[in-house]
Amino acid sequence: MASKIEIFDTTLRDGEQSPGVSLNSYEKLEIAKQLAKLQVDVIEAGFPIASNGDFNAVKTIAENVKGPVIAGLARANFKDIDRAAEAVKAAERPRIHTFIASSPIHMKYKLKMTPEQVLEAAVEAVKRAKSYVEDVEFSAEDASRSEVEFLCKLFSAAINAGATVINIPDTVGYATPEEFGSLVKTLRERVPEMDKVKISVHCHNDLGMAVANSLAAVQNGATQIECAVNGLGERAGNAALEEVVMALVTRKDLYNVDLNIDTKHIYRTSKLVSTLSGIYVQPNKAIVGANAFAHESGIHQHGVLSEKSTYEIMTPESIGLSSNRLVLGKLSGRHAFAQRLKKMGYELDDEELNKAFERFKDLADKKKEITDKDIEALVEDQVLKI
Ligand code: KIV
Ligand code: ZN
Repeated sequence: MASKIEIFDTTLRDGEQSPGVSLNSYEKLEIAKQLAKLQVDVIEAGFPIASNGDFNAVKTIAENVKGPVIAGLARANFKDIDRAAEAVKAAERPRIHTFIASSPIHMKYKLKMTPEQVLEAAVEAVKRAKSYVEDVEFSAEDASRSEVEFLCKLFSAAINAGATVINIPDTVGYATPEEFGSLVKTLRERVPEMDKVKISVHCHNDLGMAVANSLAAVQNGATQIECAVNGLGERAGNAALEEVVMALVTRKDLYNVDLNIDTKHIYRTSKLVSTLSGIYVQPNKAIVGANAFAHESGIHQHGVLSEKSTYEIMTPESIGLSSNRLVLGKLSGRHAFAQRLKKMGYELDDEELNKAFERFKDLADKKKEITDKDIEALVEDQVLKI
């Protein structure tokens, strides 16, 4: 039987940590409503202690967005946790997400704490969060560079203190899929309490492996994936939500998992996030880039015109697009050109079509993309000359 994977969206928290991105409360609410339509399981709405603006945004989302769990982030201290609790308290299903770093580098240079102090702070933080809400997520920041022995101790203590979700972040995007999958497996084997809670992963994309690492984690028992729309997030970003989701959906034969996501909202969500964040989506971005469903070469165009599955592993409709796009350029063939003419309402006989195609090829040598206006001009001009 297929197991269930929950999608935890952090566009409004880690995504907003993308350099250059700053969303106001109104924009955050718009995005949160769209994420609810997309049917993500959890919306991490922000980091309430960070500013009054962020606190208000999380509070507004908690009050107005129904469906997903609404989470607020908090460091492992009472001040952060109390503020997060206040911000999420009106949510239908509130969650406090508390974290502390567990790697030797972070403990020594950033926290200036011993492992024992980190363990104690984590337990106290989870207990404090639990005094406000039932659903408490605990993250060991920089888990992938932490000592496994210490991680096991920390996770076991956090679960015994009341954590309902254990998150394993690859904070600096350092792990490879093999390593990260095996870390998840080892932790599950060595911490028996992990069976009782959701196992989450949070992968950054510094080496371009955030999605691959998240999928490797699923194959090793992770049940929640943290990700952001368009792959937004600190530095090179987080695992891209649309890529994780469509990989799990398209390769159900391999992963055999179910999701709540309504994939038909993916494209609209990506557009909204890109417009409001001001971070444009590169054309060749998987799933949501302008070229993701565009075909340019004659061979490919002929293929998809005969049978879409020749060059499309998912349908454009499945992410909410109305159709694929055949780009007319110098590599395009007669087949695609004739089809475009027909769509535009021109009915040419064979001889006319041959002539028009010749003129089209001449123009395509001078111009990267031939638009409908170019075709119109080309055909009208030819008709005048006949
Ligand atoms: O990257 C990270 O470790 C985080 C934590 C707060 C989960 O964003
Ligand atoms: Zn992160």
